[in-house]
Amino acid sequence: MKLLAPSILAGDWWNIGKQIEATVRGGADVIHFDVMDGHFVPNITVGPEILQHISKNVQLPIDAHLMIENPDRYIPEFVKSGANWISVHIENVVHIHRTLSFIRELGAKAGVVLNPGTPVLLVEEAIHYADYVLLMSVNPGFSGQRFIERSLDRLSELKELRDKLNPDCLIEIDGGVKEENIREVAQRGADVIVVGSGIFASEDIEEQTRRLKELIS
Ligand code: DX5
Ligand code: ZN
Repeated sequence: MKLLAPSILAGDWWNIGKQIEATVRGGADVIHFDVMDGHFVPNITVGPEILQHISKNVQLPIDAHLMIENPDRYIPEFVKSGANWISVHIENVVHIHRTLSFIRELGAKAGVVLNPGTPVLLVEEAIHYADYVLLMSVNPGFSGQRFIERSLDRLSELKELRDKLNPDCLIEIDGGVKEENIREVAQRGADVIVVGSGIFASEDIEEQTRRLKELIS
């Protein structure tokens, strides 16, 4: 089964609770929570305190995508605040085995993320002990960017690697996924599909979530 993960960064934060509930009614599987620090990426978003308010009221697993420097320092706080999945970028974690093991020890699923310019093979080792690999299909920092087409071939490459080395490891894709390309990314091997503006820019968030879910079912 393919999982749909609305990225709430693209939502209207005045009404974010209602909008998250709409995605849940529409069949969302995971809530994707983007954390940015203005250093690793050129944007700043939200942290553990905001996450607490969301996790208290949402039953679905919460997937915290950490686009921050020194993520190890903040991992315990994110777990305490309700993150069920936590991913860190391979580009800024020196001791990836230590970091992924640490996330798992704290009881969360551990993910490793690849930027569009990072060779897929760089996760060849970490894939053995990651619960998921997140392939970025835009440069991280903002919602609403265009899908980088090359990501499709990278997805196939990652799937081959995953099937060979650790079939239990999920593949997640994030950035620029919309109604037009969601089927293709699912067919190419994405198990977890993050959609931000492709859901939240819609007039009817519940219906749009349902439509995207159907496209990958
Ligand atoms: C980008 C974030 C994504 C983003 C996705 O840095 O990691 O999760 O919010 O938004 P869309 O689907 O609009 O590209
Ligand atoms: Zn993300």
